[in-house]
Amino acid sequence: MEECVESGITDILMVIGQGKRALEEHFYSSREVEKRLEENGQFPLLEKVRRISEMANIHFVWQKELNGLGDAVSHGRTFVGADPFALLLGDTILRESDTSQPILQQMMEIHEAKNASVVALEEVDREKVSRYGIAGGTKVSDNILALNQLVEKPSPEEAPSNLAVAARYIFQPGIFDYLSETPRGKNNEIQLTDAMAAMMKDHEMFGFCFTGKRYDIGNKLDFIKTNIELGLTHGDISKELTDYLRTLAGKL
Ligand code: G1P
Repeated sequence: MEECVESGITDILMVIGQGKRALEEHFYSSREVEKRLEENGQFPLLEKVRRISEMANIHFVWQKELNGLGDAVSHGRTFVGADPFALLLGDTILRESDTSQPILQQMMEIHEAKNASVVALEEVDREKVSRYGIAGGTKVSDNILALNQLVEKPSPEEAPSNLAVAARYIFQPGIFDYLSETPRGKNNEIQLTDAMAAMMKDHEMFGFCFTGKRYDIGNKLDFIKTNIELGLTHGDISKELTDYLRTLAGKL
């Protein structure tokens, strides 16, 4: 959500499903909670609660069945209408390197310059290509590729490269037409990557090899690592967390 806001996007739709209600509650501030915090003089906390619910216009849509990422994205069709849009997968956090503008904003600029869909790419170890959508293409500048291949979770032998789709996309609205014609693919799910591969045959599509870091929070180990790394950047807890890590390291 913060990545969107920092890039100037404030109309946001979240596709949620069973067990994800907590997300909705997190973003809607409760008047009751606010009132209690105010009465108790807990102003820093009150400020935090308000900031979360006021940072964007956040909407939710319910995905009833787990039919894959492609199906989840289709649920945004009415919300998006005829405009280009950004897609951010929630199990990844991207942080640009210190000096640059937000990665999503850089992608928006490429989209505008090329008038075509753009996807973020990250180099991964060859043995990990089967966890991702993998792209192939030709370099058009230092960090931009004109894509000609996209394969969802290929084996290392089938993979066109080691450039993985890194959970951030800027799409032309035409992607919805391709999604509606995409049959079930890998894992019997409707794969966004398959719809993109079909779209790429008719329209240019670009890959952006960003500079920065991708935090994967979709598996336990990386979720823990991410909490620690980002925790260290949070002023209010960084000192205590550092002390704790030092003590822990001493015990290992
Ligand atoms: C999805 C996409 C895949 C992409 C990945 C990035 O896979 O299908 O192409 O590389 O996100 O995180 P999932 O993580 O849902 O298996």
